[in-house]
Order: sequence, then C-alpha cells, then structure tokens
Amino acid sequence: MIRQLELTHFRRYDRFFLEPHPRLNLVIGANAHGKTTLLEAMYALAMTRSHKPAPDESLIKDGSEYAKIVALTTFDDRPARMSLVIAKTGKRAEYNRVEVARLSDYVGRLNVVMFAPEDLDLVKGGPSERRRFLDMEIGQLTPSYLSALSQYRKTLKTRNEVLKGRQSDKKYDDDLLGVLTERLARQAARIVDERAAFIVELDRMIREVQPLISPTDPPIHLTYAPSISQNFQAELTRRQHHDIRQGTTTAGPHRDDIHFQFAETPLKPFASQGQIRTVVLALKLAVAELIHRQLKRYPVVLLDDVFSELDDTRQKNLLKHLNPRTQVFITATSLGALQAITLPQHAIVRIHEGTLEGVEHHG
Ligand SMILES: Nc1ncnc2c1ncn2[C@@H]1O[C@H](COP(=O)(O)OP(=O)(O)OP(=O)(O)O)[C@@H](O)[C@H]1O
Ligand SMILES: [Mg+2]
Repeated sequence: MIRQLELTHFRRYDRFFLEPHPRLNLVIGANAHGKTTLLEAMYALAMTRSHKPAPDESLIKDGSEYAKIVALTTFDDRPARMSLVIAKTGKRAEYNRVEVARLSDYVGRLNVVMFAPEDLDLVKGGPSERRRFLDMEIGQLTPSYLSALSQYRKTLKTRNEVLKGRQSDKKYDDDLLGVLTERLARQAARIVDERAAFIVELDRMIREVQPLISPTDPPIHLTYAPSISQNFQAELTRRQHHDIRQGTTTAGPHRDDIHFQFAETPLKPFASQGQIRTVVLALKLAVAELIHRQLKRYPVVLLDDVFSELDDTRQKNLLKHLNPRTQVFITATSLGALQAITLPQHAIVRIHEGTLEGVEHHG
C-alpha cells in the first residue's frame, strides 16, 4: 500500500505530494492534466519503468535533469520507504534509504497491477502483446522466471545467428547447432511449464472475477496456445531444415499465444468494445487476486480510464466488488454516473494542470 507519494520533475509534474486513501482513490481531472501520469509514476516506482514501452528518459520533465518518485509504503505489514531516481545517465533505486545494487532486488517490494487503455490490445492486438503480458505477470509472481527467460532469449539469439550463417556458409559447425538446439529445448521447456501453470490458474480466477462485473456475458475462457508443447528437442530437430531455410527459429516460447474465448467462441471478431474492456479488466483483477493468493500480498491496483465504454451496471459492479483490502486508483475525467451511487470508503483526488487541486475524503 502507498501511504505517501511524492513526485519531482516526473513528466508534467514539477512537484507533487499526495496522501492517498488506503482503499479507493478516484483521480479526477480534465484531459492532459496528469491522471495517467500519476498512475504511471506509481507503476514506475514499483517496476522501475513505465507501463508503456516508453524510454526511461521520457519520464523526466522536459527541461529537467532527472525525475524522482518517493513513497512511504507498507510491505508485509511493515512501513517502508521506496525511492526511484531516473536521470539521463541511468536510474537508481533505494529501499529504506539503502541503494539497491540490482534493480531485480528492488522490484517486488511493491506489487502493482495496472489496467491501461492500451491493454485492450491484449485482445485486439497480436500475440507479442499477450506474451509481454504473460512474461511481466509471471515475473512478478516468480522472479526467477525472468532470468530463465533472458537465458532463453540469449540462446535463441545465438541459434538464430548460427541458422543465418548456415544459409550462406556450408562449412558451418553442425555440432554447434546441435548443442544450441539441445540447450534451447531445455530452456524452452521451463518457460512453457511456467506459462501453462500460470494460465490454468488465471483461467480459474478470471471465471471467479468476471461474473461479479458482467454476469450477463458468456464465461471467459483462457487457453494457452504454445507453438511447441512437448518433446522440444525432437520438435526443434525436426524443424531444423525449415529453420535453416527461414534463417530463424520458427517455433518456441517466442511464438506462443493465449486465446481468449467467450465459452466456445473466439472473442476477437465477436465481442463488443465494452465486453472487451470488461474482459481485460477482469483479467487484471484476476492477476491481482493471484498475487494476493500466491504471495499473500495485496497489490496496488491502478485502473486508468477504465469506466469509459462500461455501462452504469458494470461500473457499479466493479466498484462494489473491489477487494476491500486492496488499494485502488481509478482515473476518470468526471465522476459522472458515480455521483448517483453509494461508493465504498474513498477519496476524490482532483488533478489540475499537473498539480493537486484537492483531496476529499469520504470515510
Ligand atoms: N516528459 C514530459 N515533460 C513535460 N510534460 C509531459 C512529459 N510527458 C508528457 N507530458 C505532458 O503530460 C500531459 C499528459 O498527461 P496525462 O497523459 O497524464 O493526462 P491525462 O490526465 O491522463 O489525460 P487524458 O484524460 O486525456 O487521458 C500531456 O499534455 C503531455 O504533453
Ligand atoms: Mg490519461
């Protein structure tokens, strides 16, 4: 949980200080006044980078040398202080005022789950978006997964170089290709096992979450579509000639996908805008629940512009079913239909031109 948040030179914020509500924060402000940026800052504090594939430098306010995010948090029921400085020369993180040697020792001290409008591409976009989501979230649950993944990527890169070289140079060492294939197969198996286990859990969880928000939609079904699911070594060897012709490894975890379905029907051509938004929202809330169940910690949930395209019933259901132990931030341009309903305990955080206009606590 975030108890205090302080931003310095972070995008359009020059100096900003907020004591958020422990439960629900409704962040209200007009377009371009800094709502998304505020959520991005909390995400960056936790993950040391933007939720968008944006370069670190873009987080620094135009004309400034560095950006800084400091927060007082609660981690495993103990107060903590986290700080991240992003300079043009690199970034530095501190936990309880001690600089961390490796960022991987720091990530995980604050769990966050973010819904951003770009995340609709998880359903609408291509498989690389879905793989990125998988890798990020599994990494949050099982940090060793990320090092396994980077080892896999390293081997893949070398193997692809050898395959390309093999196209032009007939003398190329076939033994080397054999060794790399064997290593890649071993590393791929670990990744595919972790992904498969995660998707089984997530599929179960999303079917618990979804009916709370959209009971009238068909049940969401999530399945893993690996490009190779077993006998990696045999499969990679079988494809070797094909891979040499293509000059690249044509199957493996880097070509996997996830399928989203409404019962038996694929979501993509069939679901409405609001339904897709609901699915992605349910997916993110399911991740938050998994983090809670597996790590026994409540992640901070950041929901950017989640209400647009959701009808009043879905908006109401979302607010009603947020886990009461979870700290949530929801941005919107206005309170709109929320004014008419009884909200749980919350604060309204008003943002105006990159400054805090005021905070109203309700309970
Ligand atoms: N590095 C930066 N330095 C200064 N200003 C920046 C920087 N990066 C982004 N901005 C400005 O911040 C503003 C965007 O803020 P943000 O995306 O947080 O708005 P928002 O309140 O979420 O708006 P919307 O309702 O349209 O989503 C833009 O006007 C952009 O030009
Ligand atoms: Mg925004």
